[in-house]
Amino acid sequence: MIRIGVIGTGIMGAGHARFINEHVENAEVTALADIDLQRVSDLAEELGTVTLQTSNPEELMNSADVDAIVIASPDPLHVEHLRLAMSSGKPTLCEKPIATNLEDARAISSEIQKYEEGKGKKVISFGFMRRFDPGYMRLREEINSGNYGKPLYVKAVVRNHQSPGITSTGLFTNIAIHDFDIYGWLFQSEWESVTSFYPPHSGSSPSDLKDPLIFVAKLKNGITLVADAIANGTAGYDTRVEVVCERGNLEIGPFGDFAIRTTENFEVNRGGVPDLNWMKKFERSYINELRAWVKEIETGVVNPDLATHKDALTANESAAMGAASIS
Ligand SMILES: NC(=O)c1ccc[n+]([C@@H]2O[C@H](COP(=O)([O-])OP(=O)(O)OC[C@H]3O[C@@H](n4cnc5c(N)ncnc54)[C@H](O)[C@@H]3O)[C@@H](O)[C@H]2O)c1
Repeated sequence: MIRIGVIGTGIMGAGHARFINEHVENAEVTALADIDLQRVSDLAEELGTVTLQTSNPEELMNSADVDAIVIASPDPLHVEHLRLAMSSGKPTLCEKPIATNLEDARAISSEIQKYEEGKGKKVISFGFMRRFDPGYMRLREEINSGNYGKPLYVKAVVRNHQSPGITSTGLFTNIAIHDFDIYGWLFQSEWESVTSFYPPHSGSSPSDLKDPLIFVAKLKNGITLVADAIANGTAGYDTRVEVVCERGNLEIGPFGDFAIRTTENFEVNRGGVPDLNWMKKFERSYINELRAWVKEIETGVVNPDLATHKDALTANESAAMGAASIS
């Protein structure tokens, strides 16, 4: 049994903890850390497997009751918590992003590189969970089948219902970073350029937040992404993607529903009440990601889809190109 300690018991930390206990074989959550001790104790009571409750992440990481660590603290704390995790020597799954700016992302990525070289193995993984989502996995399969010809461009939306405390740069480093990761993964290419555009400001967002954001990003292989990111949207949580190929269009709808559109078959996505955050839509991805991580720890066999520090840095480099294009 791999005993897991979770840092941060907000939406993601609590979600990971529940998924581990309910869906991941050979793993359970034994420790929780959060500066909000009420959250810790509420979640510990719900889980029923927690023996260490603390407000101190370092205490959790060094506890003899913890074999592996999930970092689900706020973005600006990831660098500090990654350093503590490396000192503890334990396998770690850190939520995206690796850092909130490029300088920090490069520094921590190179520290992880040296640390893993010293250990002779991969120890730190990152939570780019769309790689484990049934919809994106199917997208990869359909594209690689060649049935629809070459992929040409992607139209995507990523819209949060609420994003308390987010900054204009954060629309790239916190929200659109998933797009940079997943389409780089899907098309096996790196991002070359990002340009942002701003339609009229939304009154649903603070006046100093550049929200919504529209951006056009180009991969080195020419495939182009036209996307929008919304931090505070009025229509619930909404992620959608359409990959336009030479002989058909492949689409993942807001509920993860997959549709293929060709001249022979024009599928339509279903409707319904939207979710208010990402947990339900991406539940399968989080569970698959956690299972892959635990299996990697158990077997020592690296899963090529589980994001590394290099993948996380690549995503931040793209987000930085986006941030540099904020006007
Ligand atoms: N992969 C994904 O799909 C996905 C989705 C949402 C969020 N995230 C990432 O997960 C992380 C957490 O996001 P969230 O939505 O759960 O945020 P949240 O605000 O709901 O939770 C963060 C928690 O961290 C706690 N915290 C603050 N300072 C701390 C400290 N010093 N030590 C320990 N805990 C501390 C807070 O009290 C809070 O409970 C963020 O980095 C976010 O970008 C990833």
